[in-house]
Amino acid sequence: MGKIIVANWKMNGSLDFIRTFLPSLKASLATTSNQVIICPPYPFLISLGMDLKDTPTQLGAQNCHSSPHGAFTGEVSAPMLADIGCEAVIVGHSERRTQFEENDALVNAKVSAVHAAGMTAIVCVGESMGVRESGQAIGTVTKQLHASLPSSTNPQNTIIAYEPIWSIGTGMTPILEEIIEMHQALHGATQTPLSLLYGGSVTDQNAKDILSLPHVDGVLVGGASLKIESFQKIVGS
Ligand code: PGA
Repeated sequence: MGKIIVANWKMNGSLDFIRTFLPSLKASLATTSNQVIICPPYPFLISLGMDLKDTPTQLGAQNCHSSPHGAFTGEVSAPMLADIGCEAVIVGHSERRTQFEENDALVNAKVSAVHAAGMTAIVCVGESMGVRESGQAIGTVTKQLHASLPSSTNPQNTIIAYEPIWSIGTGMTPILEEIIEMHQALHGATQTPLSLLYGGSVTDQNAKDILSLPHVDGVLVGGASLKIESFQKIVGS
């Protein structure tokens, strides 16, 4: 079965970048059974959606508001994202949790909003280095998972991304045994198991090994998703 490969461009990219990225993405899609979800910044969603409409690639956003509409200047709602063709939304990325003070309750409300709009929530959880060093990683992350998931959660509308905070953008990854152990715990943490992605310094060098681990259904890729050749290799892993 194919794996799920999510590209999180964060606040990067441009129309010029997309023009060079598309031909290589389309070439790699022709030879893989993996499901690719591209999450660019909001301004590029509509045009990228049109560029990709004849491909199996899904379009995803990186965040949304928890309300469907209202006086929230500068915010974007889940129904708006569904309206323009998004099928997925990343919720609770650690950069949102730390830099924008999103707590589990807010993440939970946003995941509900994504479900209500008929999209898939890609819900991020992960521990800090301090928590890992204190031996509390599994307890902390499973607690975060339960607090972040609303009752509307099911395997069709929710994907979990385990992203150790200390691994994001640092070039450091857990050893494979630590990924296995965490994914095993997360697999058993919900009544019906959800698809589980690993994220944090995934590259074309380590993607194959990580994707071959038990209960790793895919990867969430940040930095390497902006390197055209690297991403092409990851999609083909
Ligand atoms: P990274 O980011 O691949 O650059 O570590 C992953 C993420 O933040 O989703």
